[in-house]
Amino acid sequence: MLDKRSHQIQRMFASVAHRYDFLNRLLSLSIDQLWRRFTRRKLDQRLGSGSVILDLCTGTGDLAIELSRIAAVIGCDFCHPMLVRGVEKSLRKDLANRIEFAEGDALQLPFASARFDAVTIAFGLRNLEHYETGIREMYRVLNDTGYLAILEFSIPKWPVYRQLYLFYFTKILPRIGALVSGKDGPYSYLPASVKEFPSVEALKEMLLSVGFKEVVAYPLTGGIATLHLASKRRMG
Ligand SMILES: C[S@@+](CC[C@H](N)C(=O)[O-])C[C@H]1O[C@@H](n2cnc3c(N)ncnc32)[C@H](O)[C@@H]1O
Repeated sequence: MLDKRSHQIQRMFASVAHRYDFLNRLLSLSIDQLWRRFTRRKLDQRLGSGSVILDLCTGTGDLAIELSRIAAVIGCDFCHPMLVRGVEKSLRKDLANRIEFAEGDALQLPFASARFDAVTIAFGLRNLEHYETGIREMYRVLNDTGYLAILEFSIPKWPVYRQLYLFYFTKILPRIGALVSGKDGPYSYLPASVKEFPSVEALKEMLLSVGFKEVVAYPLTGGIATLHLASKRRMG
């Protein structure tokens, strides 16, 4: 089991914050931005005007920035150096009136119940010490028509593609990550944490057991990532 105590995770992301965006683009050939766009489009089809979205584990704010095209967004994270980059980017893009940033722990959210129309979390749930505690908090802060969008890495099912992908993900990616960031740990932690993460089916069960009424999974790029969209009432 990986050590996911808060101070370890905070320290790990603080150590790569300066290279985080650059490595995301390099290691995914910018496909990660297409996944964030897909997430925005799926929510855009469902949310009304004047909606407010909480983007959890917002990091350097890439998803928050994408979502600010359709709603007011609060980006929340507990790693200060990551948030600082998010604030700088939103100022550079003149989005200060669309995005607020807040420092907070996803396991104990500093927000009132039923405050948000949607909660999003991209590549963040995997890092929580207790997935279910985090999901319960997300459920709590959503209003009773709210949506939860979890964008997370997954492991492709097609055998050949899966083998090729796992070779890249476990052998090549950690080396490039270590070389560029100057840190060995975080980019070995990445594939290890993906392997530990629940399957699409197990995550769906967890979401339903917390109280979500419907869960739809959208595999992306052949299953390298999955968007899990859950709603507090039937989507219809
Ligand atoms: C892999 S980054 C993802 C950042 C961003 N969502 C993206 O799409 O690039 C994971 C982020 O989750 C944050 N994080 C992990 N555990 C957290 C927790 N318990 N509470 C708040 N933020 C957390 C980390 O600080 C880090 O910024």
